[in-house]
This record gives sequence, C-alpha cells and structure tokens, in this order.
Amino acid sequence: MKQFITLMEQEMAAAFEKAGYDSGLAKVTVSNRPDLCEFQCNGAMAAAKKYHKAPFMIAEEVAAALEGSTVFSEVSVVKPGFINLKADRTFVQEYLKTMAADEHLSIGQTDSPKTIIIDYGGANVAKPLHVGHLRSAVIGESIKRILRSQGHKVIGDVHLGDWGLQMGLIITELRKRSPELVYFDPEYQGEYPKEAPFTISELEEIYPCASAKSKQDPAYKEEAMQATYELQNGNRGYHALWEHILAVSIADLRKNYGNLNVEFDLWKKESDAQPYIPDMVQYLKDNGYAHMDQGALVVDVKEESDTKEIPPCMILKSDGSSLYNTTDLATLVMRRELYDPDEVIYVVDKRQELYFTQVFRCARKTGIVRENTQLEFLGFGTMNGTDGKPFKTRQGGVMRLEHLIADIGEEMYRKITENHEADPDEARQTARLVALSALKYGDLSNQASKDYIFDVEKFTSFEGNTGPYILYTIVRIKSILAKYSDGAQAAPVCSIGSAGTDSEKELQLLLARFGSSIEGAAAELAPHKICAYIYELANAFNHFYHETKILSEPDPARKAGLIALIDLTREVLECAIDLLGFSAPERM
Ligand code: ARG
Repeated sequence: MKQFITLMEQEMAAAFEKAGYDSGLAKVTVSNRPDLCEFQCNGAMAAAKKYHKAPFMIAEEVAAALEGSTVFSEVSVVKPGFINLKADRTFVQEYLKTMAADEHLSIGQTDSPKTIIIDYGGANVAKPLHVGHLRSAVIGESIKRILRSQGHKVIGDVHLGDWGLQMGLIITELRKRSPELVYFDPEYQGEYPKEAPFTISELEEIYPCASAKSKQDPAYKEEAMQATYELQNGNRGYHALWEHILAVSIADLRKNYGNLNVEFDLWKKESDAQPYIPDMVQYLKDNGYAHMDQGALVVDVKEESDTKEIPPCMILKSDGSSLYNTTDLATLVMRRELYDPDEVIYVVDKRQELYFTQVFRCARKTGIVRENTQLEFLGFGTMNGTDGKPFKTRQGGVMRLEHLIADIGEEMYRKITENHEADPDEARQTARLVALSALKYGDLSNQASKDYIFDVEKFTSFEGNTGPYILYTIVRIKSILAKYSDGAQAAPVCSIGSAGTDSEKELQLLLARFGSSIEGAAAELAPHKICAYIYELANAFNHFYHETKILSEPDPARKAGLIALIDLTREVLECAIDLLGFSAPERM
C-alpha cells in the first residue's frame, strides 16, 4: 500500500502540474512548525529559480489548484513562498482504516526482493560472551527484522570466531594442566572420548588465564601459536579437543543469544570457510591478483583517490598460515556458492572499519564477489559506563553479558513488585521482558555509529525515552481494551472515526506515518529512527489518553471508534518493538 506522505505528494504534484509547473518539485514534508501546520511544501522556492518568477505567486497558483482537494483541508501560503498544509480528517481516517486492514500494517513491500546476509553477533568461541558483543547482536537482529519486514530474504549468520589464536591458547593451557589427557598423546590411534574434559565454567576460566600468560611469557605465546598452526594443519588430538570446545561453547552461546531474543539462521564459524581457502589462494595467484611481499602473500588494495594509506590485504602469512582476512574472503566465496547474496551487511565494532575496507576492496577487485553484490559495513561505537569509559563491572573487570542481563532483570523485578502484590512467577516473566526492552532500547535509540553511555538507572525508568516507557504505554492500551471487550473481540477497524480533537488528530497523523518511518529506518539501516518514531507515538497516545474519555464515552459509535484507534496504536507499537527485537507483557 502507498505511504501516506506519497499520497499527499501525488496530490501536490497534480496541483503543480495544473498550475503549469514541474510536478517533480512537489515535495511534501512533515512541518517543522507544528504550531502553524501539519505538513509543508517548499517547492515554490525551487520553482521560482527555474521559472524566474516570484515564489509567492507560484505558491498562490498551486494553492488555487488545490481548491476542493479531498486530501488537504487547509492550504495557506506564507512569505516568501511556503505552502502550509493540513490533512483532511476524512482522508486520514480512510487511510488508517486501509492501514489497519493491511496485512503489513502499511509497511511497503519491495517489488524486487533481495537476498541479504547479515553478519552479526560475531562471538568468539570459548571466550565469555561479554558486553562488547552485545551491540552487534542487538543492532544486527533489528536490522534483520526491519529488512525482512519489507519482503527481502534475509539470512542472519553469527559467524563465530573459532579458528584463531584463542584456540591454540586454550589447547596449550589444557596441556599444561592435564598433560596426561589422551588428546596430547601423539601415538594414540583410537577414538577420542565423547565427553569434553571440561565444563563451560572451566573453559571460561582457562581462556583469560592462558591469554594473560601469553602476554607475559613469549615462550608460552610461541607454544600457543604452534598449537594453533597444528590445529589448523591436521593434528588429530587437537582437532578432537577443538570439537569439544566448540560443542560446549556453542551450547552456552545459544542459551545466551536466546535470552536476548536473538535468532540466527546460520551458525557458521570461521572454520567453515577453511575448505574454500586453497582454491581461493590458487585463483588469486593464477590471475595475478596476489603477489609475494617479504614472504607473505598479499593483494594491493590502495586506490588513487585515497587520502590515507590503505595497506595491502594479507592473504597468507610467511609460514603459510591463514589470517582473519583470509577467512573473511573465503567466507565470501562460500556465501556466494551457497546463497548468492545481493548484499552482505557486517555489523561489527567500528574500530574494524579499515580492516573491512581492505577486505571489501580485495573481494571486489579480484571478483570474489559478483559485481553487483553490495558489501556494507555497519560499524558501531563503544558502549561506555556512566564514567564515560568502556563499560566494566564494579570490580573493573569485563562485564559478562549474562550478568548484565541478570542485574537489570533484578532491578526490574524490584520495581515491578515494589508497589503491589504480584504472582512471583508472572512478575519474573514480566521483569525479563521489561529488562530486555530496557537493554535493547537503550542501545538502539542511539545512532549505531556513536559511542553511548549505558546508564542502568536511566534505561530502566518507566518515564522518558526508554523501553519500559514504551512497554508501559502498550500495557496501558491493553488494559483499556480488556476492560472494553471483557475478553471478547475489540472494535472492528472500520469503526475508526475522523478525529474529534487536536490530540486525536495528532495521534492519527503519527499512526499514518508508520510506514514511511520504517522505510526511512530500512534505507539507512537505522533502528534509532524507529525508536524516535515510537517515542513520539507513545507521547501522542498518552497525551490523547489524558484528554479523552474512552471507556466512559456515552456514544457507542464514537466509543467503538476510539477503541479501534487505540487498538491500531497498540498494533503499531507492538509491530515496531518486534522490529527492534523485544515484546510487551500483558500486564505490568
Ligand atoms: N569475531 C570477531 C570479533 O570478535 C567479529 C566477527 C565479525 N565478522 C566478520 N565477518 N569478521 O572481533
């Protein structure tokens, strides 16, 4: 279905044409002076330049052409040539009825669906999932849902880090602790045990310990690098250990991501790209893309227009081992072979931007990706604590995501049970949902590329621009609806009436803008635009609610209309938060 603003623009375009001007100038925008008008068109200013005529005159002619419009109820011209507009109430009413009956709730469906892979999450196996990976998961999940809502085929891939030095470190540390394990016996020919020789908690203690040792002790680091090399080159025992590490760690990651409402379609790992490396390297050599530089195999990616140095993309180290680069390029080969994507979006810490510039250029230059495959880097900023430094635990350590979620859940539980008796199970469940909204909205309401301050106090508040405030608004509507229908069907959408008051009209106009706000968020991969929209919508609803008698409205037809309107508000808010990756409870 067409966007509300598009319909207004069409009406305006017809008026420009009728008055003898280029219809392409008829852009309609939301007014930046809501005290004067709802929408505005500044096209007469551009027309003045083109037609060498006073803008005011042009605007007046266009306004005259809008006489009798069923779209605009008020058209006024102000100097130097602005056209101020108000939308016709019946026009808005009809739009909302169509929207409420639309299966996509007015979200425009693409007529050329693309296959899009979103590479997000990016956790590293065997390292505790810490807050650094939170942003990727939260933002990526939302982008996935937004693009999917437009009808694209979107594939989310967690792209786990499972192939780097961290594996060699863990293996080295395990060997120091339990050299007697069969995995370290080079003579051993039999099958390896099915049970892992460690639990997830042990694993999570081993990695930081090994990592710390390797930083102090070069010999230890050397050993870990050797172990990594052997793992990647067919050491049976190490490979068996690695499989245990994966199994134990992935089970834990699934649980953690599940708690965040983050669902991946693919649980691919860096190692899944390994089989594609030899052919890829051969291809790069055969076609003269790669050359040797101080023993390493590299592809030059600098371009003439570069203002800063872009180093070459290293494909193989001098000892022949592969790197993060190699894996990412081979992953693109694999993705092309298995999914042939039109677009790949990487949701990764913005500090990796230069790295991705190299990878993208290399992939493009060498034809690893199709010419028309878009590669996009969505870099996000750092999540800081209230002290403005990267978020840490109170003790100053790296905050485990699990603990952060639990802490916020506790805080929400306390707030929910503070003032009234509640069934403890239900309160726990509700606290979980509200906590998730606090965490995700707190993140998503900021432009992704910016650093932001993770302020638990602020994010968990029921007032202001927060997730809990949005949920609170939804629950408020649900409670009115429950009282109205007493469990039966709510009022049918066709009963939505034309706005009787200013606050009702404001609410209606915001609802009508839902589709274009999603369109804007999708075009810019910007979930924060949805947050800004629903915050405005929730405010408009609450304002309307305070001014309007709903359940005590005496006229049953008007009452049904109000109910249908708030039901649509609920639907829009619930649809929007689903796109952000969280949901609302029935009560709170
Ligand atoms: N595992 C990486 C990290 O922790 C993030 C992976 C991002 N995705 C990619 N295709 N490189 O930094």
